[in-house]
Amino acid sequence: HHHVLYATAEGVKAVIDTGHYHPEAILWQRLADYRAAGGYGLLADCHAGRITVETLMQTLEAANLRGLGGAGFPTFKKWYFVRQETGPRYCAINADEGEPGTFKDRVYLERSPHRFLEGALVSAWAVEAEALYIYLRDEYPGLHRVLREAIGELETAGLVAPDYIILRRGAGAYICGEESAMIESLEGKPGKPRHRPPYVAQRGLFDCPTLVNNVETVAWIPLIWEKGADWFAGQGRHGRKGLRSFSLSGRVKRPGVHLAPAGITLNELIEEYGGGMPEGHRLAGYLPGGASGGLLPASKADIPLDFDTLQEHGGFIGSAAVIVLSDQDDLRDVATNLLAFFADESCGQCTPCRVGTEKMLSLLERDEWQSDELERLSQVMMDASICGLGQAAPNPVLGLLKDFRGELAAQNLIVKG
Ligand code: NAI
Ligand code: SF4
Repeated sequence: HHHVLYATAEGVKAVIDTGHYHPEAILWQRLADYRAAGGYGLLADCHAGRITVETLMQTLEAANLRGLGGAGFPTFKKWYFVRQETGPRYCAINADEGEPGTFKDRVYLERSPHRFLEGALVSAWAVEAEALYIYLRDEYPGLHRVLREAIGELETAGLVAPDYIILRRGAGAYICGEESAMIESLEGKPGKPRHRPPYVAQRGLFDCPTLVNNVETVAWIPLIWEKGADWFAGQGRHGRKGLRSFSLSGRVKRPGVHLAPAGITLNELIEEYGGGMPEGHRLAGYLPGGASGGLLPASKADIPLDFDTLQEHGGFIGSAAVIVLSDQDDLRDVATNLLAFFADESCGQCTPCRVGTEKMLSLLERDEWQSDELERLSQVMMDASICGLGQAAPNPVLGLLKDFRGELAAQNLIVKG
């Protein structure tokens, strides 16, 4: 496949082609190269007491670093919550990247596992974690080898105590990316989400306070420290702050992970980074946050894409998995497909999600839709599901009902109510 430009942060326009690869052929930055470029300097400064946790937290706050797994929770605040609790504490990194359309963490791990590991170790240091767990999705077998080798390099170099980093494999369940289900899975149990509160920051792994962060979130820490909070925060557009790794797919000429300013609009993203749409395609709509972030129409392609900017329009950026749909896509099929995905991946623990997803799927297969019935069912699922899966499952359908009535009518679908 195409060769890759390394995703340095200077390369705001850097394009990473994430096309097919052979697991044995992943070229990653080895420890010696990473260290030669100053890598693990931050970790050394932390361990030697040259940097305090407070200073680093202030930097992350000023940089506006937020949870890039999708929820956007301020990173420094998570550290603060976990540090408030009495030890022992743990740190667990969520590398179970399972959101449809999301493939950015894979790119960070493939290119620079040590930058990620340094960020993870700094996070573990910040909460004085007993151990650092990494939960890697099993569909990334090549990355399992990369991480194993990178951790081995660290142990051999004496930069980390043997067995301090514990690498675990998922087993293909989407729900195990939900943080409390991930923790259950790490404990050797079936991956079923827990009720919150308590949050994992209070009672997580082995019932101890646990810092759970996404791969990309921690991978930014060494770079933000090196280049400064202002540098990172200053990269946004349309009044937003920071950079986002958009997993761009669908009807664009150049799909891939594009590092772009937070707050960029869909139209700008497609034109400046995605190479435009293929000939003969007209924008019909887009999924701003994979399967979970709703379905927005072409008329909403000029909204800044970021946390907090899409809610009022019925969308959510989540992990920034932008899927571009054209007039040649059957949007009803798209919504039905996503619902089938959620029904399949529901852990079955709570009724509104287990029954609701199946029920909605059966309603979608009819040639006449009752919008009030679909909306009532959606409301129950959003209000009463235990976790984000059931709460987000109705989003694509709600999007269709809200903004795509004309398209549905053109498909001879009767929508009543
Ligand atoms: P959330 O907003 O409920 O929680 C976000 C984080 O903040 C969690 O770690 C939570 O423990 C913490 N938190 C929130 N309030 C807290 C408090 N008062 N005290 C301590 N900690 C607190 O969101 P959730 O359900 O964890 O994640 C949903 C997101 O995940 C969605 O945006 C979705 O897009 C994304 N997602 C990403 C996937 C991926 O593959 N990257 C897969 C599926 C969903
Ligand atoms: Fe399981 Fe769905 Fe309930 Fe989440 S909402 S706990 S996935 S049944």
